[in-house]
Amino acid sequence: MLHPLPPDAKRTRRLAADQEGLRAAAAILAAGGLVAFPTETVYGLGADATNGPAVAGIYAAKGRPTFNPLIVHVPDLAAAEKHARLDPLARRLGRIFWPGPLTLVLDRAPGSPVSDLALAGLPTVALRVPAREDARTLLRLLGRPVVAPSANRSGHVSATTPAHVLADLDGRIDAVVDGGPTPVGVESTIVAVEAGRLRLLRPGGLPVEAIAEAAGCTVEAGPATPGARPLAPGMLASHYAPSAAVRLDARQVEPGEALLAFGPDPLPGEDRAAVVLNLSTAGDLVQAAANLFGHLRALDGTGATSIAVAPIPGEGLGAAIRDRLQRAAAPR
Ligand code: TXA
Ligand code: MG
Repeated sequence: MLHPLPPDAKRTRRLAADQEGLRAAAAILAAGGLVAFPTETVYGLGADATNGPAVAGIYAAKGRPTFNPLIVHVPDLAAAEKHARLDPLARRLGRIFWPGPLTLVLDRAPGSPVSDLALAGLPTVALRVPAREDARTLLRLLGRPVVAPSANRSGHVSATTPAHVLADLDGRIDAVVDGGPTPVGVESTIVAVEAGRLRLLRPGGLPVEAIAEAAGCTVEAGPATPGARPLAPGMLASHYAPSAAVRLDARQVEPGEALLAFGPDPLPGEDRAAVVLNLSTAGDLVQAAANLFGHLRALDGTGATSIAVAPIPGEGLGAAIRDRLQRAAAPR
């Protein structure tokens, strides 16, 4: 799917996450370039959302097979109001959780300059206000909305460090802003707000329990009608795919397997594992989310043919972690 790099391939610049680096990043975006930048969840591959050809460049750089709609990043709630109609419930969620790892899918506002390609022709727009100060500074310096899917090649696990970004995209994008590792480690939670009701389109860095509590209503699961295509079309069953087979909820380790461990207690057969990485020896789901994609990449990089994954509880951030692991384990 991804073509070999042409001889005139771009050089990817490394920019510091300081005023000077962010200014340079904003200038590249303003000129239609592609810049990977850190958010609190994962690194995003940014383009000016109002520039159709720049948005198209994202799909080319990632080797994405289809035009999935992209998340539009804005610096604050006031900027969000320019691109979507926020009802009182959406505004309430925005006030409480923005900046933060929550993406709201809302009806697009008439007159929003976001390109149709970024929205894949949908009448809705997914909006998010990232929590990192450097990310919002970049958005303010540019003064335009930025679309940013995770900064990895299509089908790969999301990038949580500049090294992961470059492993996938070096030479294919103009620059990466080096802000170190991203603290949350899994992507934002995506919730659709429809006529005062909430639907969870993707579990993520903000626990759904917190959203339900703040909203004072339940968050329904999944697409509106059974059998309907998933409403976050990027949520393909086999996504986040390492080359190794992934075995979930392993009760023991088979000889030669790599082990993605969780918690203080060793699994039976752990001494037979080729390599072991623990998401959180303390059994802390927040720490586990932050380590998830880096550990998956590292284990996959050992060349092990199978990765056993220890049981991980499903509450709080565990829901997002289990969701990503199920996709990594899906047959392909
Ligand atoms: O944490 C995050 O959300 C990261 C950082 C970089 O902000 N971004 C991210 O983007 O995960 P991406 O493109 O990898 O995932 C975006 C998801 C896809 O599943 C896409 O289908 C869904 O958002 N999406 C975007 N617009 C939508 C819309 N209007 N309706 C439903 N789903 C939408
Ligand atoms: Mg992604």
